[in-house]
Amino acid sequence: MSTVKKLTESVELLKKRRNAIILAHVYQQGEVQEIADYVGDSLDLSRKAVTTRADVIVFCGVQFMAETAVILNPSKTVILPDKNAGCGLADFATGEQIIKFKKEHPGITVVSYVNSSAEVKAESDICCTSANAIHVVNSLTCDSVLFVPDKNLGSHVAEHSNKKILLWDGYCYVHENITVNTLESLQDQYPNAEIIVHPECPDEVRHMADFTGSTSQMSRYVKQSHQKEFIVGTEDNFIYRLKSDNPDKLFYPVHTFCEGMNTITLEKIKIALETMEHKVSVPENIRQKAEIALDKMLTVI
Ligand code: 13P
Ligand code: SF4
Repeated sequence: MSTVKKLTESVELLKKRRNAIILAHVYQQGEVQEIADYVGDSLDLSRKAVTTRADVIVFCGVQFMAETAVILNPSKTVILPDKNAGCGLADFATGEQIIKFKKEHPGITVVSYVNSSAEVKAESDICCTSANAIHVVNSLTCDSVLFVPDKNLGSHVAEHSNKKILLWDGYCYVHENITVNTLESLQDQYPNAEIIVHPECPDEVRHMADFTGSTSQMSRYVKQSHQKEFIVGTEDNFIYRLKSDNPDKLFYPVHTFCEGMNTITLEKIKIALETMEHKVSVPENIRQKAEIALDKMLTVI
């Protein structure tokens, strides 16, 4: 029996024993997506964490995603198979920095992208994901907002809103690495391909794309499109999802990888279910405040 098959069987048995569910982000490696009970974007996974009847959630994603599951559903045990699965973008802002900013800008409305720590969420008025950021910001009654921590997504929102958006100087290295030059040379190689990109990409990259959207929006766009070829401006593992859902279409990667996402493996999922490590926790006072900002987001959409 192959190693993957053996690991898959062990994980299935352990999952039953623990009454566990495996949630995986679309940036997870193919073998992890295959073993997951549910694969989705940040928003889908947050919703799933609220409604699941399992006792244990094995979160195959990065730290902030597992924390979001804890914040929204504190009665569950949430396990991150690798405690080092971090998000470089979330590291750009701390709760203390937001407190300081609010003191300097009294009355400012803070919108935090879910790719942030529980402390940052706790200091925010409302959260958003890349799938609902424009909608969330436009639903607010104030004239100006601080958008934290991603300057590129914030800039994308500003292009679709008449509010004044103050940008935080944070970015995701996975998307910041995608350049106009890379896309142009792929376009030369594949002249019939459309370019689709994530809104975490820099302005000039988004502006040359045929479509900009969150991973779920890109999935929908590709499914509904008559086009057969796509240059995909986001984490390379997303192509595994696109190919599985659209076997008749062709996808060209830009070769950019998220370290945190790729640290999770089948072996680590098995060990996580055996040892129930690494349990993710959020201090209750922070959890309660962060839950308010997340709940607001979930009622807007
Ligand atoms: P999505 O919510 O679009 O899946 O994006 C999450 C993310 O981390 C993008 O880098
Ligand atoms: Fe964070 Fe970027 Fe990885 Fe998404 S791709 S989890 S924003 S580091």
